[in-house]
Amino acid sequence: MEKRSSFGSRFGVVAAVGGSVVGLGNIWRFPYIAGENGGGAFILVYFIISLAIAVPILLSEFTIGRRARSNARRAFTKIRKYGKWGWVGYLGIATAFVIMSFYSVIAGWSLEFLFSALFEGFTNITSAEMGDKFSLFVGGAVRPLIWTITFILLAVFIISAGVEKGIERYNKIFMPLLLVLMIMLAVNSLTLPGAKEGLSFLLKPDFSKIHPSTLLQALGQSFFSLSLGLGAMITYGSYIKADENMFKVGGMVAISDISIAILSGIVIFPAVFSYGISPTSGPDLVFITMPVIFGQMTGGYFIAILFFFLLFLAAITSIVSLFEVVTAYLTEEKNLSRKRAARYVAVALTITGSMCVLSQGDGTGFRIAERSLFDWCDTISATVMMPVGGLLIVFFAGWVMKKEVFRNELTSEGRYGKRIFPLLYTLIRFVIPIVIAILFLDQIGLLKLVK
Ligand code: PHE
Repeated sequence: MEKRSSFGSRFGVVAAVGGSVVGLGNIWRFPYIAGENGGGAFILVYFIISLAIAVPILLSEFTIGRRARSNARRAFTKIRKYGKWGWVGYLGIATAFVIMSFYSVIAGWSLEFLFSALFEGFTNITSAEMGDKFSLFVGGAVRPLIWTITFILLAVFIISAGVEKGIERYNKIFMPLLLVLMIMLAVNSLTLPGAKEGLSFLLKPDFSKIHPSTLLQALGQSFFSLSLGLGAMITYGSYIKADENMFKVGGMVAISDISIAILSGIVIFPAVFSYGISPTSGPDLVFITMPVIFGQMTGGYFIAILFFFLLFLAAITSIVSLFEVVTAYLTEEKNLSRKRAARYVAVALTITGSMCVLSQGDGTGFRIAERSLFDWCDTISATVMMPVGGLLIVFFAGWVMKKEVFRNELTSEGRYGKRIFPLLYTLIRFVIPIVIAILFLDQIGLLKLVK
């Protein structure tokens, strides 16, 4: 057997894991979810939930991965020799696939918009025109298909180059670039006339806006944003070196994730308020509202290019981690070479991704119970597959793994984080499973917290 790869340096680990967590979830999903849920109040809840729930799950995934030093499917049965746990691994692989299927479609849009920004610009386009343009593009299958496939091929290119020479290397270039772009865009936004209003919407919590639904939305968002519940972090964890301080890595990554989400808010909301647009325009915020705004902004031509390039960077580094879940499984369990495994994943993903694209045309797309396959993938992964996966993973960490084994691995044999371990372990064993279970029961409608 080949020697198993690992990430080379602390910066490499943080860049790779950061690349996975920072994605469309931060730039496309977070602003519109925060916008719909009252801005500042939502962000506060999100912050608390990320630290108290999401980070402990992230650390559990790292620990399982590093302990087993294997792909997410094998990890469970390697630690606990009971065949049934392998199903959690399979569930994770399936979830990765479902997410990739719609994620590659939205990522494809970012490429289309990047090219639109470059060659046509959005000068003086109105909301209605932009809306039409967008529906025409999404409904007309060929262009979205080409972009989705282009995006998948780029991911294959990175994955095929390996853990250190592919994933780590590109993340080390793309992540700092992303951060620089983000800061440039945020600074630009702060100079807009509506900046003050935008900022106070974003940062001043209005507690009357906190409902049970805010909590549930925040929990779902933090799962998606920190790439949890499907073994992506188990897989990346398996490449973390034994003496690395996982608390530090987890902390740095969580802070980056939250900061980038808030920075996206700073990029988007001042602009939204300057141009008198409602902050609650939903998933279209990035693809319809923002181009309209760029079309009116001084220097908007360049800002638009930077923005969509940023979106593309964020998406590619995330999909690579989803790809790796399946690729690692195929190379280690089915004895395929990395290149061949990546190609197989790409072929399968091209099929499911294309189905998602084609399911979107108005009237022409195929629907299951009134919804497109694209919507189904988005909804099922976030509301069912990730919470169930997360619940099982955290249960495995807290109740199935022996406490000493878990503690020794997480703390690198007692070297780091010994003092916060007891608190963390209590969260993992009791608090988190209960909270996720409640969320899940609510989402599938068995328990009605929110009307
Ligand atoms: N965290 C990524 C984002 O915010 C999405 C993702 C989910 C990536 C699950 C990997 C695994 O866009």
